[in-house]
Amino acid sequence: VPRIGPGGAGRTSEDAVWRDAIQLAINAPSVRNVQPWRFRLRRGVLELHLAPEASADAGDAALRTVTVSCGVVLHHLRVALRAAGETPVVELVRDPGPSALLAIVRLGEARVPTSEDRRLAGGIVSRHTQRAPFDARRLRGEFLDRLAVAAADEGGFLDVLRGARRDAVCRLLTGEDLLLARQAPALAVLSGAGDGVREQLEAGQALSAVVLEAAAEGCAVGFLDAPLRDPTARARLASFISRGETPMVLLRIGHAEPVPREPRRRLDEVLDVRESRGHPVPTHPGAQP
Ligand SMILES: Cc1cc2nc3c(=O)[nH]c(=O)nc-3n(C[C@H](O)[C@H](O)[C@H](O)COP(=O)(O)O)c2cc1C
Repeated sequence: VPRIGPGGAGRTSEDAVWRDAIQLAINAPSVRNVQPWRFRLRRGVLELHLAPEASADAGDAALRTVTVSCGVVLHHLRVALRAAGETPVVELVRDPGPSALLAIVRLGEARVPTSEDRRLAGGIVSRHTQRAPFDARRLRGEFLDRLAVAAADEGGFLDVLRGARRDAVCRLLTGEDLLLARQAPALAVLSGAGDGVREQLEAGQALSAVVLEAAAEGCAVGFLDAPLRDPTARARLASFISRGETPMVLLRIGHAEPVPREPRRRLDEVLDVRESRGHPVPTHPGAQP
């Protein structure tokens, strides 16, 4: 069914839906803010690609977090589309080849956004990565359980570390990371069901679900990546989480005052819109920040 928007013909209004949703989604966090995502819109079908320059020189550990970051933006996009009254239908590519096509997104039935959809989309705007210590407010167990459920719903695992396991993970850290980990109200490992590209994308979507749920509750998340870059520490970390999953990121979670947003690429730097015959269409200027 064509979507008839205020602008007239169906395709134009649908393009505006995509642009608005992508514009919101690209506020997603990514490792070192590299924003390794590129989108191609072809006649109502959106492709998510890994930016070639983001993967060119990356080692395994770096490539893992780059792919996880693409999973994060994919989940942000789903949240943005749902809040706009759309039903995103996502297909993760089974075996991404050299083209680095990771996922395909289509629009299903239009729907009425729920308050929950809008609450999560609000988290996209309010979220930031916490780099400083958290303030003294504690976190409720019920809230941490909700974060774990949010991760599980996306095919990831959030393991909140307590007692001896938390102490053991802290022993993998040094310097400022150790101080930040010790003072955090919660320390958690987010892991995936495996270490293929598909599982990394799923873990990224789970990570997004966690950071948005946290942001919607006025909480922030910080990252401690040292144990994930070092193979020995990484193996130790894997041994502390229960079910043999692949650890992707070590997170600290707590309350903090908002900080200024890190810059992002413009929409036209990450989105390529083409007509069926391959002519580029200029990105809508009104959709840019
Ligand atoms: C998979 C992943 C890994 C990250 N690792 C780190 C990290 O090790 N240290 C850190 O300070 N931030 C880390 N970040 C956060 C990014 O640096 C941050 O998202 C980016 O700089 C943009 O800032 P913002 O999240 O406040 O918008 C990571 C983010 C993602 C998605």
